[in-house]
Amino acid sequence: MVSLTALATPAPLVVAPAMNFQMWAHPAVQANVETLRARGVRFVGPDIGPLASGASGQGRLVEMERLFGELLQVLGQAADLVGRRIVVTAGGTQEPLDPVRYLGNRSSGTMGYAIAAAAIARGATVILISGPVALAPPARVEMVRVTTAAEMGAAVRARVIGADALVMSAAVADFRPAVVADQKIKKTLDGSVPEIVFERTDDILLGVREFPLVKIGFAAETSDLIANARAKLAAKGLAMIVANDAVATIGAPDSSATFLFPDGRVRTQPRLMKEALAERILDELGTLLTLSDMEPVPGSPLLREGFSE
Ligand code: CTP
Repeated sequence: MVSLTALATPAPLVVAPAMNFQMWAHPAVQANVETLRARGVRFVGPDIGPLASGASGQGRLVEMERLFGELLQVLGQAADLVGRRIVVTAGGTQEPLDPVRYLGNRSSGTMGYAIAAAAIARGATVILISGPVALAPPARVEMVRVTTAAEMGAAVRARVIGADALVMSAAVADFRPAVVADQKIKKTLDGSVPEIVFERTDDILLGVREFPLVKIGFAAETSDLIANARAKLAAKGLAMIVANDAVATIGAPDSSATFLFPDGRVRTQPRLMKEALAERILDELGTLLTLSDMEPVPGSPLLREGFSE
């Protein structure tokens, strides 16, 4: 069945062999492999290691991550995030006021979901931590649903361990009602209105400042866009910040954006659909991850926070 399909399809063929090491080394097998290679078939593996027979040698099926990366390359897609573990936050948080009311924001989650979907397509393992939104999770994502800023903070702190990158696109509440009423707050006959006292929520990015992973934040501003974004980039220890106009961006399908980096680089993007902007953000993330793999050079402007000199 497999060989019939292989003969009948014009699609590129990738073969990941797995067999006993003596079978693999046999001249008949090797001659056939060479014939297929000459016809354009791509072989991935086999790896060397323990085999099903109990023996050890070259014959193991390669790791799925490597196979997936090769498939993406054959299909001509960017595969720069294969083997990377990326935590993405999306959507807005909701802070309860009473059992039926909350304080929220207009975030639709579109940007974060687009980043998660695009990162999966590039081969990453993606954990998507999302506030309540009306979007379906991208296929193959590990989904964590939260409601409040405190829940999102706890989810991020638990998931960044062992991750390579955090992309914090969620619109997290900065304030929450200090007291959550047990019962629905009722109107009063005298026409008075309730006074709501707020308290600060924790800053999630600040809370993971010391974690050695590449962090990308967003700055949605209504004034002094670049200056405010630059201050957040430094204060939160980010490798990059995506600055955009809060009113034009939050809840919209498209966005203009400016990428800012700790070394002072500024990259202005045109107005793009958020799916296209997600690809540009991931192009930058791919480069930042490659840089973070390298030995940090003391004094280098490319040093990311967390690798101190
Ligand atoms: N952020 C966070 N924790 C918060 C608030 C925001 O981690 N409690 C993250 C956002 O996800 C974003 C970045 O910090 O990546 C900047 O968020 P923004 O709302 O623009 O800035 P704030 O730090 O909240 O500052 P301000 O609201 O005063 O502009």
